[in-house]
Amino acid sequence: MPHHVPICNIYHEFSQKFMTAGQLTNLIIDSVSKAISERRKNPEIKSKNFLQLMLDHREDDGIVAGLSDEEIVANAYLFILGGYESTATSLAYTFYLLVTHPEIQEKLYQEIKKAEDDRYIAVQSLQYLNQVLTESLRLYPPSGMQ
Ligand code: HEM
Repeated sequence: MPHHVPICNIYHEFSQKFMTAGQLTNLIIDSVSKAISERRKNPEIKSKNFLQLMLDHREDDGIVAGLSDEEIVANAYLFILGGYESTATSLAYTFYLLVTHPEIQEKLYQEIKKAEDDRYIAVQSLQYLNQVLTESLRLYPPSGMQ
């Protein structure tokens, strides 16, 4: 007689490995809230990122129409939601296209090898990389607009 694994065991195993949407939401909210209070306690900590930009425009810094802590957390959550799947899907299609077009991959590799460094400004000047990504987004748009 075949051995059947009860469905609740499969669910239990799955839920041990992966977070539920609620747990992930709590993780993000807790981490961002912690980062906000850390930076409030230590204003000398400054990073170049979205969170810092929002913190620099907080309402209690006397800025008209500044952001409340709740709005900063909500925006950080939106950026993570909006930026995660879209970027992952775009990269997956781009790598698929590069693997299936090795001559393009080689040309791109040569351009990247010549790049000065990996800072944003240097990456922005890579014309062929820009063309590859744009073409990948044209062929396989990860999300549509209505
Ligand atoms: C290749 C990557 C991405 C693609 C293809 C993409 C695509 C889109 C599209 C089609 C929209 C809807 C625009 C509209 O309705 O007018 C959108 C909105 C948005 N995306 Fe992205 N996105 C990407 C990366 C990101 C990243 C990295 C972030 C965050 C860091 C992000 C955050 C957002 C947000 C916050 C909105 C809503 C903007 C608004 O309603 O004002 N996206 N994105």
